[in-house]
Amino acid sequence: MSSNNFLTTLVRWSYAFVGLTCPALLSAGPLWLDGHQSTIVVEGPVARSQLNLFYVTCWVTLVVFIIVGATLAYATIKFRARTPAEEKAVPPEQGHGNPFIELGLIAGSVAALVVIAVPTLQAIWFTYDVPVEEKANTYEITATGGQWWFKFEYPTEQIAGVGPLVTGNELVIPANRPIRINVRTLDVIHSFWVPKLAGKVDMIPNRGNFLWLKADQPGYYWGQCAEYCGDSHAVMRFRVIALGPKEFNDWVAQQTAPARNVPLEKLADSDRPKAQFASLRTFKTNEPGITDKYESTPLDSWRAKQFPEKGESPELIAKGKALFVTKTCAGCHSIRGHGAGGLSAPDLTHMGSRSTIGAGVLENNHEQLHRWIHNPEAVKPGNKMAKGYRDNNIKLTAEDEVALVAYLESLK
Ligand code: CUA
Repeated sequence: MSSNNFLTTLVRWSYAFVGLTCPALLSAGPLWLDGHQSTIVVEGPVARSQLNLFYVTCWVTLVVFIIVGATLAYATIKFRARTPAEEKAVPPEQGHGNPFIELGLIAGSVAALVVIAVPTLQAIWFTYDVPVEEKANTYEITATGGQWWFKFEYPTEQIAGVGPLVTGNELVIPANRPIRINVRTLDVIHSFWVPKLAGKVDMIPNRGNFLWLKADQPGYYWGQCAEYCGDSHAVMRFRVIALGPKEFNDWVAQQTAPARNVPLEKLADSDRPKAQFASLRTFKTNEPGITDKYESTPLDSWRAKQFPEKGESPELIAKGKALFVTKTCAGCHSIRGHGAGGLSAPDLTHMGSRSTIGAGVLENNHEQLHRWIHNPEAVKPGNKMAKGYRDNNIKLTAEDEVALVAYLESLK
């Protein structure tokens, strides 16, 4: 067992021990601290550098704890009153200022600080920006936070007559390449955090912050806004999907194309899909929107979303496309190639190819999309889509919702 493995085990057992006396702590995350947003099971060099610094600090504090604790225990046991006579005795004369001990304590504290300071400065230097030798290979992205979602822009991928490629809530990156992320905000202070890849960096109004990160290999990572930013801060999430070079290039080619069009052609009655929603399910607030099946194979689930589904209904899709404009969705959302150009909400050009909706809160499937469109307020309190429904007096029938879901899911 390496020394850091020993420390990891120690941290885990301490957490488990505290968790036994404080069940709320245990219910907040996996017992073994290896969940989706773990900072001790990491998958990139920046997060690893931060983890190693955590270990150094832990070791130093552990040594200090043992020395102080042992001294205290020794003095408490050795000099305790053992008999009634000793209890009544006058305490011995109190001494102050043994120069040898005091200088020793100062020297020891300085040594502990130096042991922590050297790797701290190294880590600050390393995590600040992409190392010089890797600069040429850097891929640049702009991430912008807003209440309560993330916009990702790809300045390298320019679309003629439009500008950079824009996506929402799912940041797809090339694996094993340094990614430099410029962080911005549309409104209040947010914070960009993908625990397994890098520490958090604040998105501050009128200030150009940045960070860099790298994923060791293709993978699927959970991100989270880490700065309190209003009602739905806790559900302001996102995902990072790291892909190999070829798969990443394919993804860029697909995303830079306009939204997919499903031609409206007559279907034989036998080919007509069954109604997707016989009845509208009622979801409770805070009911989980991501299933265990999805959680166990998130990258596979993401890949499966890249292709059109079987059994699409061209009629429903055409109806949903028209509703998207008449129900004013297009005032806030963009769908490139479909005449929707709103800029204040996530770009939905290829929404059907994302694995999550509602900024990483719900799995992107018919049922959850229906839930979101039906009552966004129950999923994300205070959000602007719910406000838009109220302000514009938007009423959607069950059939409208079915058509909108079919349309949005067709956008691959
Ligand atoms: Cu955005 Cu918290």
